[in-house]
Amino acid sequence: MVSNIVTLEEFNSKIKRVIITEEEIKAAIKRVGAEIDKIYDGRPILLVSILKGAFVFMSDVCRVVTVPCEVSFMCAKSYYEGTVSTGIVKITMDIDKDISNYHVVILEDIIDTGRTLNDVVKMLKSRNPLSLHVITLLDKPSRRVVDFKADISLFTIPDYFVIGYGLDCGEHYRNLPYVAEYDSEI
Ligand code: IMP
Ligand code: MG
Repeated sequence: MVSNIVTLEEFNSKIKRVIITEEEIKAAIKRVGAEIDKIYDGRPILLVSILKGAFVFMSDVCRVVTVPCEVSFMCAKSYYEGTVSTGIVKITMDIDKDISNYHVVILEDIIDTGRTLNDVVKMLKSRNPLSLHVITLLDKPSRRVVDFKADISLFTIPDYFVIGYGLDCGEHYRNLPYVAEYDSEI
C-alpha cells in the first residue's frame, strides 16, 4: 500500500462523500463544450491544461468542442502543507509553443486562493495571445486571497478540500470519476 496509508480500507475511508457525481460532470462538460463552440464560432483555439489537476478535465473538454483545437500543457505547482495552501506558486513546465497567434483557453481544476491562476494569467497575457479565457471546473470563492474570477466556472463549492476527477490529496485519488469531499480528520 502507499507509504503513509496503512490499509486499503483506510485509504477508501478518506473519501467522505461524493459532492459532484460523474453524471453531473458529464452534463456540465457538454454545456461548456457548446459554450466554447459558440464563443469561438469556428475559429481555432489552443486549450491549455494546468497540470496536474486539470488533465482529466482537459481530456473530456477537448472531446466535446467542435472548433479546430490544439492542446498544450503547463505545470503550475502550488505548494501545500497538508490541505492548506502556502501561497508559493512555481511554473515547473511551460507551454510548448508561441501563443501570440492563438485564442487561448486555460482549463483549471479548481480556483482556491486564486494565486495560481492570477500568476499564470499575468504571465500568459504578457505573451500577447489573440485572446485569453479561463475555464475552471470548480470554484471556492470563499477562500480567495487575490481578486481573481474565471470567465466560466462549472461548479461553485463551499470550503471543502476535495478529491477526484483530477484533484489529489498527496498525489492520490486523481482517478476517481467523481468529485468527493476528503476526510481531513486523522
Ligand atoms: P490556488 O492557487 O489557491 O487558487 O490553488 C489552486 C490549486 O491548488 C489547484 O490547481 C489545485 O491543484 C490545488 N487545490 C486547491 N484546492 C484544492 C482542493 O480542495 N483539493 C485539491 N487540490 C486543491
Ligand atoms: Mg491544479
